[in-house]
Amino acid sequence: MLYICPVCRGSLQLHQSGKSYNCRNRHSFDLAKEGYLNLLPVQHKHSKEPGDSKPMMLARREFLEAGYYEPMAKALAMIIDANITEGQNLQLLDLGCGEGYYSRKIACSCKHNEQISLHGIDIAKFAIAAAAKKQPEARFVVGSSNRLPYADQYFDLVLRVFAPSDENELKRVLKPSGHLLAVTPGPRHLWQLKEFIYAEIMEHALESSLPRGFERLVAERISYKITPEPRQRMALLQMTPFAWRANESVLQTLKNVAELEIETDFILTLSVKTADV
Ligand SMILES: C[S@@+](CC[C@H](N)C(=O)[O-])C[C@H]1O[C@@H](n2cnc3c(N)ncnc32)[C@H](O)[C@@H]1O
Ligand SMILES: [Zn+2]
Repeated sequence: MLYICPVCRGSLQLHQSGKSYNCRNRHSFDLAKEGYLNLLPVQHKHSKEPGDSKPMMLARREFLEAGYYEPMAKALAMIIDANITEGQNLQLLDLGCGEGYYSRKIACSCKHNEQISLHGIDIAKFAIAAAAKKQPEARFVVGSSNRLPYADQYFDLVLRVFAPSDENELKRVLKPSGHLLAVTPGPRHLWQLKEFIYAEIMEHALESSLPRGFERLVAERISYKITPEPRQRMALLQMTPFAWRANESVLQTLKNVAELEIETDFILTLSVKTADV
């Protein structure tokens, strides 16, 4: 059993029509035409369109597809490859997957990709619809990381790239000794972009905090400089949490700079679940 009902937490079974999933209490969830499953009931939605907005999602897609974060994505693939054992079928969940860029990268960059079953979840429906359309072989779900619609101990690895999570839910869906691979901003991530917006900038901590019940195995810092085209520079700003601080004049100045070199700085942390409590 993979999915659980987001309403009553009972197991969900694929209906014989192949078009919906149902629980014993007759809660039913249709597969969308793109192949994803919406497991976010209205009563768990805190707004009409939770998660990232469509413009944010499109900006992220444009920026990521241009390849600026590819070195980081490749490093993720290498860490995953190094942690697959021979003959293992690795169940991998991309938590807060957005429109699925990293799932696609894993599928094409991992040497052992045929051993990986990819799953992705995000609270933003249009992001999931876009992800499912681009990667039909992966299983995408609309749902919340605070109430994951997956059975206990289903996953071997959870990938979390700049996305929120609930530590109890994380632990619940991971197998004993399952892994969490998290990407968080390093001290100087997007420093030059932030300089446009804030009068004073604080460095992020070098070491990201781990959820309780996890032990750090590997921490890798990846930093390099990028020089995005003005259009992609604006897309990059739009996908960050500090975009809303930028007023019109800041946006104009940022747009008109001929060239802007920006530091990226990522911390990739692989940790292992050590306890269920
Ligand atoms: C900064 S984006 C990162 C997206 C993707 N991992 C990437 O790096 O391209 C954060 C994502 O988390 C999603 N999100 C926010 N709150 C969520 C929640 N409670 N459950 C699931 N996803 C959530 C947003 O919709 C958004 O796609
Ligand atoms: Zn149910």
